[in-house]
Amino acid sequence: MSQPPLNQTRADFVAAVDHVIRERKTLKVLRDPGDCADLPFEVAAQLRAAVRESLEVAGWAPFHKPAHKETHLQGGPASIVPWRFYVLEKPALCALLKRLRAQALANPDSKWSRAWETKITRVIAGTGALVMTTWLPDPGPDGGAPVLNENNQEHIAAASAAIQNLMLAAEARGLQTYWSTGGILNDGEVFDWLGIPRAQKLAGAVFLAPTELPGDAFEGGSWRDKRGGPAEWSIWVDADRLAAPDVLA
Ligand SMILES: Cc1cc2nc3c(=O)[nH]c(=O)nc-3n(C[C@H](O)[C@H](O)[C@H](O)COP(=O)(O)O)c2cc1C
Repeated sequence: MSQPPLNQTRADFVAAVDHVIRERKTLKVLRDPGDCADLPFEVAAQLRAAVRESLEVAGWAPFHKPAHKETHLQGGPASIVPWRFYVLEKPALCALLKRLRAQALANPDSKWSRAWETKITRVIAGTGALVMTTWLPDPGPDGGAPVLNENNQEHIAAASAAIQNLMLAAEARGLQTYWSTGGILNDGEVFDWLGIPRAQKLAGAVFLAPTELPGDAFEGGSWRDKRGGPAEWSIWVDADRLAAPDVLA
C-alpha cells in the first residue's frame, strides 16, 4: 500500500494522484519541420531536469519476466527490465529531421519521401524532447522472429506501464505529452541511426513538450472524449454465475 508523503493527508494524496491521471491528455505540438530550432538555454535545462526525473519515476513500473539474457543483456544497459528509453533532446531532434529530409530528397517516391509528408515530421519539429521507448522481446522458436507468447505479452504490458508512468510524471511536471506509434521512427534504418538494436521493438514514441514552446498548431487525441464511463468498460462478476455443484457437502 502506498503511503502519502509525510506532509500530506490521505485525501490530498488521492486527489493529487487522481488529478494527474485525469488531466493527462494527448497534445501534439505541430511545427513546420523547416523551423526546427534549439530551445533557449534555460528552457532546455529545465526540460532536461524534468525528463530525467520522469524517467527515474517511470522505471518503477511493474514487470513480470526479466528480459531475455542472451538477446538483450549483453553489452549496453544491462537492467533486466523489459523496456529501454532512448532520449532525444532538441539538437538531436533537429539533426534527425535533417537526416530524414536528406533521405526524402535522395529517394523520391520512397518510404522516406512519403514519411516527410506525414505529421510525424511536424511533431518532431514541435516537441521539446522525444523518448523512444522499446520493449525487449524474447526471440521466437529456434531464435527466429518473436511471437506473441505469454512472455512477450507481459513484456509489452510492462513497457506500456512504464510509458504511462513516464507520461504521468511528465504531466505532473507541467509537460505536454503525446504517445505516438512513431510512423517512420519505427523503421529499422532509423533505429540504426539512433543506436537502437533491431532486436528491440518500439512500444511508443513519447513526445514531451514544455508549454512555452511555439507551435503552428496543437492537436488533441481523436478518442479523448469517446471512451464512455466505467459502466461501458467494467463488469462486476457476480458470485451466482460461479455456482458449482456442491461436491464438498
Ligand atoms: C499505443 C498507443 C499508440 C498511439 N499512437 C498514436 C498515433 O500514432 N497517432 C495519434 O494521433 N495518436 C496516437 N495515440 C494517442 C491516442 O490517439 C490518444 O491516446 C487517444 O485519442 C485518447 O486521447 P487522450 O490521450 O487525450 O486520452 C496512441 C496511443 C497509444 C496508447
